[in-house]
Amino acid sequence: MQKSLFTIAILLASFLFVGCTNNGTTGSKESFEPIQTDVPARPSGQKDVLGLTIPKMDTVRVGFIGLGMRGPGAVSRFTHIPGTKIVALCDIFEERVEGAQKILDNASLPRAAGYSGSEDSWKELCERDDIDLVYIATDWKNHAEMMIYAMEQGKHVACEVPAAMTLDEIWAIIDTAERTQKHAMQLENCVYDFFELTSLNMAQQGLFGEILHAEGAYIHDLSAFWEYYQDDWRLQYNKEFRGDVYATHGMGPAAQALDIHRGDKMNVLVAMDTKPANIPEHLINKRGVDRDSAYMFANGQHTMTMISTENGKTIHIQHDVASPRPYSRMYQLSGTKGFANKYPMEGYALDASSLEGSEIPNLENLNAHSYVSKETKDALMETYKHRIHRELEEKAKEVGGHGGMDFIMDYRLVYCLQNGLPLDMDVYDLAEWCSLAELSRISLENNNAPVVVPDFTRGNWDKIDGYRHAFVD
Ligand SMILES: NC(=O)c1ccc[n+]([C@@H]2O[C@H](COP(=O)([O-])OP(=O)(O)OC[C@H]3O[C@@H](n4cnc5c(N)ncnc54)[C@H](O)[C@@H]3O)[C@@H](O)[C@H]2O)c1
Repeated sequence: MQKSLFTIAILLASFLFVGCTNNGTTGSKESFEPIQTDVPARPSGQKDVLGLTIPKMDTVRVGFIGLGMRGPGAVSRFTHIPGTKIVALCDIFEERVEGAQKILDNASLPRAAGYSGSEDSWKELCERDDIDLVYIATDWKNHAEMMIYAMEQGKHVACEVPAAMTLDEIWAIIDTAERTQKHAMQLENCVYDFFELTSLNMAQQGLFGEILHAEGAYIHDLSAFWEYYQDDWRLQYNKEFRGDVYATHGMGPAAQALDIHRGDKMNVLVAMDTKPANIPEHLINKRGVDRDSAYMFANGQHTMTMISTENGKTIHIQHDVASPRPYSRMYQLSGTKGFANKYPMEGYALDASSLEGSEIPNLENLNAHSYVSKETKDALMETYKHRIHRELEEKAKEVGGHGGMDFIMDYRLVYCLQNGLPLDMDVYDLAEWCSLAELSRISLENNNAPVVVPDFTRGNWDKIDGYRHAFVD
């Protein structure tokens, strides 16, 4: 009897102990360890490319690969950037190269060397010895191979979003950039949008206090576009892969505001998604695909990813390219003294103390319970207009490209190359923003398990103190 009472006491104690360590749930502590992916060691003799600078160049000689819906706009924008020379144009289809040549004709510029007719013609473009920068706007599946080959041929490389789709591709791009000491920039345009860049400037000047939380998204009903992608690559990619396959528009502005790999780093993410619905129905109704095949569709209609950082911050990213709802990149910064929000309503809310001593009148006794008035918002946006916008806004609006942000992105890339400055976005930004595709998939396929976000700088995430754009003076 005494023995059995003793046994019960031991069992009870064990139960209470397990209960305490797991907040009352069953299961061992080990079961909550986040999933780790491999972090390949940096090869010996190779160094990071944080703050990479290269010798100044008077003229940036560029070759473009991929002239579908997106590429020709980039060719056109470059005709407006002084100190550039469009040397070569490449697409599988000859008529697309010819279309881009006409852009040069219209700008009274000499025609460029054309490459077409094969899936590999782009390699010849990369091998030319009169090109400094290879600019890639092909579908997602080509990006990593093209970036790596271009860098191996001694070129700097800029690539449309997402520049990489898997962790293997990401690590290969990082290793090539570090080995060759070449720039590998992802062409993320949304970081230059007017509200985002102005809000970043406010954040950097402390208007929002300490930023604790950031949100971003790509919510865009692509049903009108599915039939226009070459060989259906985009829909097919979503059919095959689960996860946030297009995270960079949301990630870019959030990561810059949180100084990711400039004093903070992402630690762990978890993802959840809904079942797929509208794209399978599109396949059934518009393409006559049978129901069973149409619903063999990997990507959920709405995907949410939440990320925690080393400094105790959070990021929330969403992806939805199928629901009939207004376009949104969410874009939200929430700090200890203020708040910025872009969609669906653009505005700021501020703790009254944020405006003390500033030239902005405190028109409505701000208490952060509601957005500031339009008058105050306009005054704030004028006061905190980013230097980049002060210098480029007029020209950017004239040239265009998503309201001007595309031109600013290209202009800044060329400006930094010409002046031997670090680029606004480095290869580790590319890695972090693109890594959501595979990391969110891993979480989703493991019951929404936490997954470690690798430190792509391999230990140097706090070497740079805060995110800043580089200028000559
Ligand atoms: N940043 C943005 O706002 C934004 C907007 C639209 C598209 N994009 C990105 O731009 C990229 C291109 O998208 P798109 O809408 O132009 O697609 P698209 O299908 O219209 O064009 C892709 C082009 O690449 C060409 N191409 C494919 N493989 C090639 C190869 N091996 N060699 C040479 N050319 C090849 C195709 O022939 C096609 O002309 C994607 O990464 C997309 O996500 C970004």
